[in-house]
Amino acid sequence: MRVSATAVIGLQWGDEAKGKFVDLLTEQHDVVIRYLGGNNAGHTVVFGGETYKLSLLPAGILHPDVVSVIATGVVVDPKALLDELDAIVERTGPVEPERLLISDRAHVIFPYHLLEEAVYETGSNGDAIGTTMRGIGPCYQDKAGRRFAIRLGDLCRPDVFRRRFHDVAAKKNEMLLALSPNAETVDIDAVFAEYSAYAERLAPYVCDTTTFLHRSLKNGRKLLFEGAQGSLLDVDHGTFPYVTSSNSSGCGIHNGSGVPERVISRMIGIVKAYTTRVGGGPFPTELTGEIGEKIRERGREYGTVTGRARRCGWFDAVAAAYAARISGVDCLAIALLDVLDEMDEIKVCEAYEIDGERTTDFPSQIEDLNKARPLYRTLPGWKTDLTGARKLADLPAATRRYVETLTELVEVPAAFLSIGPDREQTIFCD
Ligand code: IMO
Ligand code: MG
Repeated sequence: MRVSATAVIGLQWGDEAKGKFVDLLTEQHDVVIRYLGGNNAGHTVVFGGETYKLSLLPAGILHPDVVSVIATGVVVDPKALLDELDAIVERTGPVEPERLLISDRAHVIFPYHLLEEAVYETGSNGDAIGTTMRGIGPCYQDKAGRRFAIRLGDLCRPDVFRRRFHDVAAKKNEMLLALSPNAETVDIDAVFAEYSAYAERLAPYVCDTTTFLHRSLKNGRKLLFEGAQGSLLDVDHGTFPYVTSSNSSGCGIHNGSGVPERVISRMIGIVKAYTTRVGGGPFPTELTGEIGEKIRERGREYGTVTGRARRCGWFDAVAAAYAARISGVDCLAIALLDVLDEMDEIKVCEAYEIDGERTTDFPSQIEDLNKARPLYRTLPGWKTDLTGARKLADLPAATRRYVETLTELVEVPAAFLSIGPDREQTIFCD
């Protein structure tokens, strides 16, 4: 197999501006693949002067010559997908089935998944994770549990769907009531009819994407893997249990697409020049005062999916270096540097102090991470508007020093810097 693929993954807790970089790299590729998560992702792409907010559709959908693939590891809410597709078709013209392939192995999100999540997340027992409430976790739970899982391939075969759905949905209603006597349940016949109609519309796009990807590689087509969420939200390697329910580090590429990771020649790790997190969970460098507020306003740090204000803080090099090691990242893209333009000084967390001990290891237990006191290196701000910079030499010495500090601490060189949402606001470091 030829080595001919690129991956773009987030190294923090999501929202690292993956959409911008995927869009930028799409021109050099033939196929763009979403391989994990679902409509919990929110990717903003500025294309031809217009802003698009994508959630389930790969950023390749905006490029007529590129094939977009929603691969095996994704969980699909059919209504959300069709709404998004309709909105794109309205703005950019028809999307033929040759341009959008959706895996028949991908699992389907049903209304009972959302109701189940509502019971967990809004229950009074105070153990909410702060999820996006899109049914992502309950759907992955059913995938791993197998007994109640329904895949897109099942949905698109009317006889299989009819047989499976009624049995599963009846059990789900019983379970909802067992979880909470006041829980809402689903109207089984109505949901069956609704989802049968979705199936009819989706069927032309649904196929075995794994076979398609293998064939594409054989034919020398270049693949671009579009990460969703961030590595620190990875269910195995992130800040468990405050994570999403799939492998959002580079580890998810292989299992989520069926393409072996060794075909990837460039694993690009994206970081923001600072850190954000939305939802609950530990965040050692969080800034709850004025500086955090300033980052939030300048960075427009409000969720694309849920509109929630994101928590903001300084760059955490301990966490980012850990994430980079897990995924074998070979270069960094540093986004949103311009958000720090007005800072007098900028801090970078270079180590944690836990129980009086200094460490650069990222703790595996949240109790330890909750205790971690960030040890900062303080750098001078550049107090310059960076948004017009186009090459490294345009950057003030203080900005270059900041970038060098991040790459030194994360132990990965920078390949791209971003100083604004537009494509031109990108600096190539080589
Ligand atoms: P993109 O692709 C930021 C977070 C949620 C919550 C946790 C679990 O835009 O970077 P879930 O609904 O997945 O079960 O929620 O994960 N989360 C994200 N945070 N960006 C995302 O995606 C996220 N997807 C999930 O806020 O803390
Ligand atoms: Mg997001």
